[in-house]
Amino acid sequence: MDVILGIDIGGTGIKGAPVNIQTGEMIGERFRIKTPRPATPQAMVETVAQVAAHFSWKGPIGCGFPAVVKNGVVMTAGNIDQSWIGTDGKALIEAATGCPVALVNDADAAGLAEIEFGVAKGRPGTVIMVTLGTGIGTAMFLEGRLFPNTELGHLILRGKDAERRAANSAREKHEWSWKKFGRNVTEYLNELDRLLWPDLFVIGGGASNEWDKLQPHVNTRAEILPARMANIAGIVGAALAPLHLGMVSRPEPVVQAASLAEPEAAQSEAASNEEAEPSSPPESEAEVPKPARPRVRARKTTGGSTQ
Ligand code: BGC
Repeated sequence: MDVILGIDIGGTGIKGAPVNIQTGEMIGERFRIKTPRPATPQAMVETVAQVAAHFSWKGPIGCGFPAVVKNGVVMTAGNIDQSWIGTDGKALIEAATGCPVALVNDADAAGLAEIEFGVAKGRPGTVIMVTLGTGIGTAMFLEGRLFPNTELGHLILRGKDAERRAANSAREKHEWSWKKFGRNVTEYLNELDRLLWPDLFVIGGGASNEWDKLQPHVNTRAEILPARMANIAGIVGAALAPLHLGMVSRPEPVVQAASLAEPEAAQSEAASNEEAEPSSPPESEAEVPKPARPRVRARKTTGGSTQ
């Protein structure tokens, strides 16, 4: 099974594309639909199903989700409707799409993409991916193996949730200069460093698209690199979730692996923030999601994945 549909489920947009999980390449255009408001399970799951239907998808689907996900069940709800808490998202999406689904935390998905195809590929020791977007997502790897659901974006810094000081949304909201934002990000990364001593930080999310502006103001003991795959990491990493959870087997290695787009190309392809309006092709977008169909019902059964 070399091609899997990856869907990056966010608080603002739900976007997907088939991905060749052997090469990390997206096949064709991304398709994006705005996240319905309120972002309830039924409305969001119907939107995910519309993304799958756009590709006439019949096969495994991997989804990244902006919350803690254990065995397919959503455990937290930061930037989505609170009614998600305790909902079996995996079972709901399977019921709506008729496809087997692997559901993982969105930052874990992005981290999987960087470990498999990006700047963290082959890196030994402890790697921490930090996505600076609407929230702060983290993915921690030891010798390439994921420790799932680290919620290090919620460390308390100066009495506040770190997201409120170092997420890209905080920079936009307060109209901070890159210097001021860089100071906050540095303080946050230094706190992670003090506690976990990583060998490499990988910075992803919206802020990584403007790495040239942020980088001069960020200084850490550990090496720090911008994510290679920028926002496509969310989709590519989501597509890796079924592999990660053992739902599909690893494809046979190709003799001559197709080359991944250059980092610059990936950056410009994904030039917009995860939570901003994507402007760059290839992507098609359905502006107005269709109203939720009644056939999805919340089920509380636990999914079969092991994360
Ligand atoms: C959530 C994380 C998520 C991150 C990025 C945080 O608010 O708690 O689970 O990975 O946002 O979406």
